[in-house]
Amino acid sequence: MNESFKFVHYEKNKIKNKCSVEKFGVKTAKKVSGFHKSFPEYMETPLVKLDSLSKHYGVKGIYVKDESYRFGLNAFKVLGGSYAIGSYIANKLNVDIDEMPYNIMTSDATKARLGEITFVTATDGNHGRGIAWTANRLKQKSVVYMPKGSAIERLNNILEFGSDASITDMNYDDAVRLANTNAEKFGWVMVQDTAWEGYEDIPAWIMQGYTTLISEAITQLEGKKPTHVFLQAGVGALAGGITGFITDYYKEEKPIITIVEPNKADCIYKSALADDGKPRFVTGDMDTIMAGLACGEPCTVAWKILHDHADNFISMPDWVAAQGMRILGNPLGGDRRIVSGESGAATMGFVSEVLTNKNLANIKETLKLNEESLILCISTEGDTDKQGYRDIVWNGKYIKK
Ligand SMILES: Cc1ncc(COP(=O)(O)O)c(C=O)c1O
Repeated sequence: MNESFKFVHYEKNKIKNKCSVEKFGVKTAKKVSGFHKSFPEYMETPLVKLDSLSKHYGVKGIYVKDESYRFGLNAFKVLGGSYAIGSYIANKLNVDIDEMPYNIMTSDATKARLGEITFVTATDGNHGRGIAWTANRLKQKSVVYMPKGSAIERLNNILEFGSDASITDMNYDDAVRLANTNAEKFGWVMVQDTAWEGYEDIPAWIMQGYTTLISEAITQLEGKKPTHVFLQAGVGALAGGITGFITDYYKEEKPIITIVEPNKADCIYKSALADDGKPRFVTGDMDTIMAGLACGEPCTVAWKILHDHADNFISMPDWVAAQGMRILGNPLGGDRRIVSGESGAATMGFVSEVLTNKNLANIKETLKLNEESLILCISTEGDTDKQGYRDIVWNGKYIKK
């Protein structure tokens, strides 16, 4: 595949009658945060201010939320999986999620009321790790299907929590279909972030789960308003949940939101390009280094929000994410180091390139990036594939083309 930068911009008032974002707004986020704060591992993840880097690039500020610190699991994903499982249990027991904090959710009494449950999912690794971890805490079972080519380290990280996890010979979207078929066949509960008609509650809970990280970031910004937020997308659940929250929080003063994807799995970009509001699919192996973003079918709940409320959609080469990993891992001046994996560093890679590459001047201008810009990125994972991390950061794999 010939890799390149591709770009779609939606004018602010392009979409009439925008969909509601209330489901992912401030009120919901309070509830979700309350749930996550009840976990013994709960700690705000750092919001890192990269002063030397922003000076170097001539912008007002660059902030990176470092999700490698989340619950000791090296990625943000557990926020979604745990909240979806919590909501599923609360629903099943007919109580509000507020009445299902960690100690009650994981109690023997709750287990006795629920009986045996098997949670099933398909995942590149990070989501499955969160599901396996939560199921383990609930003393329940989990089954995890990973797409072909998944890193053994990511598989081992899931097996560690007693999950029946395996790497299949399918791509991500076919692994999702396998999980769904077996959920129906064996009466398992599917916890997937991809939504389709008739399967939207759990994906929406997963997206709500992600609001914890953005509401933390807003508090950590202490009143400073970002002008630009960059969000990486696989199925778009993370980007959709956060776009929903930001739109509700800032209303008309919303920052410019830009969605970033790899060329090899750019289903959100292709959906935006098609310009009829309907999602488009990417098929095939999607062998991008950004494993967490290697998804070809947008989550329908997320896509609606991104279509109506996001401003820009970028499809980019793999080397850009590798560049982001090197920049975050080797900071300038007194900036704090961030260990960021391929999917985690995708947005930082794009920001570094758009701010410095003259060939992208038209994108920089359309994005209104200038010396007044205050940029927020989320490093969604740490070195979840340690060998892959070293190949890139130490050994110079995937250098700029
Ligand atoms: C590290 C990382 N970042 C970002 C994403 C993208 O999230 P989503 O699939 O909700 O778009 C994923 C998904 O697995 C991921 O693992």
